[in-house]
Amino acid sequence: MLKLDAIDVYYDGLCALSGVTLQVKQGEFIAVVGPNGAGKTSLFKAISGVVPVQSGQMSYNGQDLSLIEPHMRAELGIAHVPEGRQVFASLSVKENLQMGAQTANARKALTQTLDFIYGLFPRLAERQTQAAGTLSGGEQQMLAIGRGLASLPKLLMLDEPSMGLAPTVADQIFECVQQIHATQGISVLLVEQRVGEALDSCDRGYVLESGRVIMSGTHEELSRNTDIKKAYLGL
Ligand SMILES: Nc1ncnc2c1ncn2[C@@H]1O[C@H](COP(=O)(O)OP(=O)(O)OP(=O)(O)O)[C@@H](O)[C@H]1O
Ligand SMILES: [Mg+2]
Repeated sequence: MLKLDAIDVYYDGLCALSGVTLQVKQGEFIAVVGPNGAGKTSLFKAISGVVPVQSGQMSYNGQDLSLIEPHMRAELGIAHVPEGRQVFASLSVKENLQMGAQTANARKALTQTLDFIYGLFPRLAERQTQAAGTLSGGEQQMLAIGRGLASLPKLLMLDEPSMGLAPTVADQIFECVQQIHATQGISVLLVEQRVGEALDSCDRGYVLESGRVIMSGTHEELSRNTDIKKAYLGL
């Protein structure tokens, strides 16, 4: 459904992504792992249209993404849950979720979607009227994912959902992501520094370093790769 072919992204002449080629097929769970500054967030921003792509091609279900305005990419079913959660602090949990439902279809389905989100994250259900800024880090991450789900995505992009969370809370978030993928038929593109967990969950993965894809493969191939074990898993 999503195809990137030799994408370059520059910031003021500095290269953040170089020749990145990547594919997400319908229903796949894809992990992108790599160290700080590798270009993971830039990759997501390029896909959602927050930063321009200097060269290369991006297509979504056969449509040239460069011809589609960023806000229309959400209409096509691309949801970007940003790094650092970025919830609307002064708005309530419910208002944040409502903000996720921008398209006509998402608004129509909102009551049903809210039931689903609250089922997935009971802690949000208990805190519907609480200001998002007063939620714990884990709850804010649940809210950020919930807001992404409220747009009825076909492709859910999650940028480091475990960042800054205690291991047990991060594990809960991972389990929810796996559940969303397994039950909703949504494709998931996950960026993570928790390489072991990300590779455990994914169908396929890409390793990004200094803006380049240095390795890619299936879950099995990457999990038994000795370079990855040494560099990322401390084994
Ligand atoms: N707005 C910007 N202006 C200039 N340089 C930027 C900008 N955003 C990112 N960069 C640079 O691009 C490179 C890739 O950054 P990016 O945020 O994509 O990495 P990342 O893999 O997401 O890192 P992290 O794991 O720390 O989130 C870095 O060298 C960063 O300094
Ligand atoms: Mg990042």
